[in-house]
Parts: sequence; C-alpha cells; structure tokens
Amino acid sequence: MKPVIVRTIDELRERVRGLRKQGHTVGLVPTMGALHAGHLSLVQAAKADGHKVIVSIFVNPTQFNDPKDLDKYPRDEAADVALLAPLGVDIVWAPDVDEMYADGFSTTVSVSGVSEGLCGATRPGHFDGVATVVTKLLLQAQADAAYFGQKDFQQLAVINRFVTDLNIPVEIVGCPILREDDGLAMSSRNVRLSETGRKTAPALFLALSKAAEDIESGNDVTRVLAHASKSLLEAGFTSIDYLELRASDNLSPMAQFDRPARLFAAAFLGDVRLIDNVVVKGR
Ligand code: PAF
Repeated sequence: MKPVIVRTIDELRERVRGLRKQGHTVGLVPTMGALHAGHLSLVQAAKADGHKVIVSIFVNPTQFNDPKDLDKYPRDEAADVALLAPLGVDIVWAPDVDEMYADGFSTTVSVSGVSEGLCGATRPGHFDGVATVVTKLLLQAQADAAYFGQKDFQQLAVINRFVTDLNIPVEIVGCPILREDDGLAMSSRNVRLSETGRKTAPALFLALSKAAEDIESGNDVTRVLAHASKSLLEAGFTSIDYLELRASDNLSPMAQFDRPARLFAAAFLGDVRLIDNVVVKGR
C-alpha cells in the first residue's frame, strides 16, 4: 500500500498520536531522498523491530556547506515513494523548507568532540546542520527508535552524542553499510559518478580493506595510510580529503592500533566526494 505523504508538523503529530492510540510503536528513518537499497535496509530494520515506519524525505539546506552541492543533490519524490510503497512504510514525512525552518529560525544544535576532524574539518557547519535537523525530526516524529546507516559513521556518533546529552527519549540504531557487488558503499551520490568514475570508485573500499588488514597484521599505521593514499591516487581518485585511523568509540585520532578502531576515508572523483569506513579488527 502507498504510504501517506505528510507535509505539516501538525498532521504528522496527529497521525503519530493515532498510531500510538492503536498501541503501535514508531520507527523513524531520516533521509534526504534519492533512496537506494541502503535506505531500504534501514526501513526493513525498523519493520523487523516491529515499528510502524515513518520515512522522512527532506534535503536539509543547512548541512550543505557548498551551495553547488545542494543544487546538484538528486531529488525525485515520486520515485522514492514508489520504492517505499512495497515495504509497507506507513508515513512519508516530506515537509518543505519553510515548514522546517520558519521565519526567524535561530537555534543550532552543535556537538563538539566527535564532530571535529574527518568530515567536520572539511565541511564547516555540516554537523551543526545535521544535528539541528535530526533533533527537529526526532521531536517532530516522537519516534521510539531512529535508524541510520554506518556509512556516515561520524554522523551516527554525533547523533548518539546529542541524543544522550539532551536526554531525547529515542533509541538510535546504527545499521551496517550496504555495498554494491564490487564493494562500493551505496550512496545517493553514486549516480553522479561518470562512467570512468564509477569504475574507479570501488578502489576506495579496496584500499581501506587492504589498509585495515595491514594494520591488523601489525604494520606501522602512518606507512600503511601513506601507501593507501598513494594507491587511491594511482587508481584515479582526484584528491583525498582524509584517510585516518580513529577510535571506534569517541573517534579520537590514533597513531597506533592499540584500541578498537575504524579506518575512515573521504576522496574525490572529479566533483563527487565519496566517503567510506571499515572496522580494524583486534588481534
Ligand atoms: O544521512 C542523511 O541522509 C542526512 O544527513 C540526514 C540524517 C537525513 C539528516 O539530514
């Protein structure tokens, strides 16, 4: 059945109240549309947990530090809704910008620590935009649980931090990265890759996986990362934003592999910026 499309906060609240009255719990899957199998896996996780499911579709202008990136962000609501319908999504929450950011909007949720470095270093204001809009989405939907992909691992860490700090009564569920057959992490940005770029793109996951293996085998972290950067540029990546080993819990930088860790990378193929991360397993 087609989900109901809701445009106002009042209607969303009324519908959520109705679901609760019928004894249901609510799971929220926040998205910016341009849905792919990765998003659908979040919906499936919410359904499997027994929730009525709200998918929000809102391309949030405040998290784009580059206006060109915002303009180019793919938008096709009808296609998104068609993908959600067979999954039994109950509500698509698709407000316009004025409903989200009314005249005089002046509040920012800003998280220090986990938002610093990695994407926070090269995308100033990005995580303030994410934290503010996700706070609003959580309060609007009053969901019992909200589902996010681990591809945006730093985003997930930021969300976990402010949900804890602000005592927002919601369970945050981090879901595994979905990959194409060649290893490329699924992303709404992948459709913007050129034919050559699409062929080169899986090199990001390959370089991260090889670097993780080398670090797991006890090789020097700095050397491994330098080698991985070189291999990405040789594969055809135009530039590398970052390639770093960070602690899994608080994302602090690590020069040595002495705690549970993840490898994080962001790199450009032309004007398309791809991010990915992998776990580095302890010995
Ligand atoms: O990951 C995304 O798609 C966005 O950052 C989110 C969480 C929907 C907030 O706009």
